Amino acid sequence: MKYEISITKTANPKARPADESKLGFGRIFTDHMFMMDYATDKGWYNGRIVPFGPIAIHPASTVLHYGAEIFEGMKAYRAADGTIRMFRPLENVKRLNQSAERLCLPQLDEEGCLDILNTLVELEKDWVPHNDGTSLYIRPFLFGNDPHLGVHAVKEATFVVICSPVGAYYAEGINPVKIAIESQDVRAVRGGTGYAKCGGNYAASLRAGQRAEEQGYTQVLWLDGVERKYIEEVGAMNVMFKIGGKIVTPALSGSILPGITRKSCLELLKDWGYTVEERQISVDELFEAAANGSLEEAWGTGTAAVVSPIGQLFYNGNAYTLCGGKIGEVAQKLYDNLTGIQWGKIDDAHGWSYTVCNG
Ligand code: PLP
Ligand code: COI
Repeated sequence: MKYEISITKTANPKARPADESKLGFGRIFTDHMFMMDYATDKGWYNGRIVPFGPIAIHPASTVLHYGAEIFEGMKAYRAADGTIRMFRPLENVKRLNQSAERLCLPQLDEEGCLDILNTLVELEKDWVPHNDGTSLYIRPFLFGNDPHLGVHAVKEATFVVICSPVGAYYAEGINPVKIAIESQDVRAVRGGTGYAKCGGNYAASLRAGQRAEEQGYTQVLWLDGVERKYIEEVGAMNVMFKIGGKIVTPALSGSILPGITRKSCLELLKDWGYTVEERQISVDELFEAAANGSLEEAWGTGTAAVVSPIGQLFYNGNAYTLCGGKIGEVAQKLYDNLTGIQWGKIDDAHGWSYTVCNG
């Protein structure tokens, strides 16, 4: 079911970034955004593409007080054949609905949501950058918007999609990042909201992230919230290790985000004949493997960061260098293949590319 979408074009289109090598991440926004409102008695209504700009919000709005907000992160690419494509967008739509279910926010029709993304990206297609390693980051978000202060599941909500031309998420690009394992704060627990992509998870992660940054680390690697012993995920990425020739990654236990890049990497790794284990990994196991030389590689996976090799892990005062601080073979192969599929440079055997329009 498609939603009705009215389009009001901006009278003042902005100049597009002149130097695509300096895009950074999430600081420049396109000319338009999508908005749609929800009320329990009306369903979703007033779907509209409007000029990009501030959103008026009631000071008592649920999102401002109780954090009822979920979001997605996906990308559109300018492929080698000139088409504009997205990568497995239906997976993001499904995850948005799973997050909505957890936070008692209204769900979106899958086909309708895909059509919204498609319509907005097609309108903004000239904003999809051209340089290697760049893309148009798409940020759908949905928030509870009741104009009163009672704590309950909302009756009103707003769905918005904004777009930002981006380069690499980390200043390091594909070069290895330094990650600190966090032993004080926890991000999420089973039964909580860890598997949902909700703003509150990120708010809870900021203090540890800041501490790690102050010590020269790019991001935090979270441990489980109960025993503080099992590896969970990195701030904006899932994490994978190559131990004794096998690929090991934390199982989806409910407290980590079910990453679409994670899922795609696991499918590629299986195609290539690797043994893949989705299970609990304790920090002790990890450092034992580091000590005996069987921890061959570690990397993170995520939409923003794609595949990001981990060159150093810090834990309880000790720093461990991994893979000689260099990009590992498997991380590089995953990066090359994923971006190759996304940019339409190599065969898309799984049918993950979704063509939006001609560029
Ligand atoms: N884990 C967290 C906490 C994230 O923010 C992200 C980024 O979206 C991921 C994992 C990776 O998920 P995906 O591959 O779907 O982008
Ligand atoms: C993404 O990879 O899309 C993310 O959401 C990571 C981060 C910017 C929150």
